[in-house]
Amino acid sequence: MTVSPALEPAARPVRTALRRRYLMCRPEHFAVTYAINPWMDPGAGADAARAVEQWEALRAAYLGLGHEVSLIDPIPGLPDMVFAANGALVVGGRVYGARFTHPERAAEGPAYMEWLRGDGFTDTLEGLHTNEGEGDFLTLDHVILAGTGFRTDLAAHQEAQEFLGRPVVTLRLVDPRFYHLDTALFPLDGGNVAYYPGAFSPGSRAVLERLFPDALLAGEADAAVLGLNAVSDGRNVVVNAEATGLIATLDAHGYTPVPVDLSELRKAGGGPKCCTLELRPAA
Ligand code: ARG
Repeated sequence: MTVSPALEPAARPVRTALRRRYLMCRPEHFAVTYAINPWMDPGAGADAARAVEQWEALRAAYLGLGHEVSLIDPIPGLPDMVFAANGALVVGGRVYGARFTHPERAAEGPAYMEWLRGDGFTDTLEGLHTNEGEGDFLTLDHVILAGTGFRTDLAAHQEAQEFLGRPVVTLRLVDPRFYHLDTALFPLDGGNVAYYPGAFSPGSRAVLERLFPDALLAGEADAAVLGLNAVSDGRNVVVNAEATGLIATLDAHGYTPVPVDLSELRKAGGGPKCCTLELRPAA
């Protein structure tokens, strides 16, 4: 089975949205000037004005769904800073700081940490190990799923588990197009996920099947437009509009797809989730 079959309309569960708080960074200095993933082509470049327009529509979608959006000032010379998900991992009011793989993005970690401290998040850890925040750590109610293979070190999974006091489950990524966990999988709610199996090692696929027998599975075509880089509030799922198969699957399982066009940001390898850092307060 490559994609999940639709549920009969009468069998579709009623889903519940929870209000979220997100941090975002307007892509005023967005550009593709280096290549650190297969989506990026500095020769082709990208249009910052168009990226800002698309990003504004994403922000408006969150506000329209009733979520709170805070903004961090973009810094010149950090073209990928729009990808706020990579700036940190914030769970239960605690901040596990990012430490980037590539020197081009290194300054983003301290910038996000400074913003979060200024916002009142004082319980922080600047980790010793390479990790790219919510790009590779996805938080559910009972477990944090953590990607490795391209960016985040295995040792960071342990570091996050000890600091946050939540079980962290390692998942191994094997396809360079899906270099962060959040390009291949997203939480639908606190207890279930949607993912593209082809992005994971055989062992990690087996782990996902065991943990999430009711997961929604997406096919290659939806993954290839970064459809899995989506943001769910438990009912509404903000998702790249080109991921038409996934959108139909979500709809057929009682979720409300909220399609957005982030094609300009995809030129850097990012989608809706990459632009969005969830700020989870102390319980
Ligand atoms: N160009 C950025 C990089 O390769 C894109 C980051 C996308 N962010 C994400 N959470 N997947 O680092």
